[in-house]
Amino acid sequence: MRTGILFGLTLAFLFIHGAHSATITITNNCSYTIWPGDLTANQNPQLPNTGFELASLASTSLDIPNPWTGRFWARTGCSTDGSGKFTCATADYGSSQVSCNGKSAIPPTSLVEFDIALIDGQDFYDVSLVDGFNLPVSVTPQGGSGPCKSSSCPVDLNPTCPTDLQVKASDGSVIGCKTACIAFNQPQHCCTGNYSSPETCPPTSYSQFFKERCPQAYSNAYDDQPGLFTCSGGPDYKIVFCP
Ligand SMILES: *[C@@H]1O[C@H](CO)[C@@H](O)[C@H](O)[C@H]1NC(C)=O
Ligand SMILES: *[C@@H]1O[C@H](CO)[C@@H](O)[C@H](O)[C@H]1NC(C)=O
Repeated sequence: MRTGILFGLTLAFLFIHGAHSATITITNNCSYTIWPGDLTANQNPQLPNTGFELASLASTSLDIPNPWTGRFWARTGCSTDGSGKFTCATADYGSSQVSCNGKSAIPPTSLVEFDIALIDGQDFYDVSLVDGFNLPVSVTPQGGSGPCKSSSCPVDLNPTCPTDLQVKASDGSVIGCKTACIAFNQPQHCCTGNYSSPETCPPTSYSQFFKERCPQAYSNAYDDQPGLFTCSGGPDYKIVFCP
């Protein structure tokens, strides 16, 4: 009897205190291999799997603790050289390894960002182009309650990227699109110094390039909410690269 009560109390405690951990499933819908990576914010312990290879049409699932704040992205054009050094054409960590181990990607890189159960069990998530673009991506809650809308940048921005923002492969093809802040490092493009408020850092033709093509994604530090993406009740999430 006592055991039964204790067991019930334990279950209730686990239920209330977030024993639920979100499962995030990452699918590569691109025609080429990608190397997804993840970074846990605030130097919390990193996830067991911080970087991995994902063949075309393959999926991998990761268990995310609750609460959790962090981001996902994917590297492209990776290879291992004769000395065992692993490098990628876009979104490299500079770690020379498939695992990122707490390092963030070198822009330009499309991002999916999460605040899982940050406030009262409510999740926030978005697609961000604040670090530029390297490949299309979407994020979709599975289950949950509330708006729980899918967000994405489903368009390949590389072919139409403005010339002065382009990152090119050795064969001349465009493989990434920088933000104007990264390309020019000027306060009016980075919203710093005299430009560090929404009034003094309005959208530019460069930030509008991203905004017009991917309106659901953040494209500037003072981007108006492209729709607040939120979901409650402990949903799982699906991230698709090249949706
Ligand atoms: C910021 O603006 C003030 C007033 O217009 C100007 O005097 C100052 O030089 C500016 N600072 C920079 C870094 O441009
Ligand atoms: C995968 O890409 C194809 C186009 O190549 C598209 O029709 C399909 O909807 C995509 N699947 C997902 C899960 O996004």
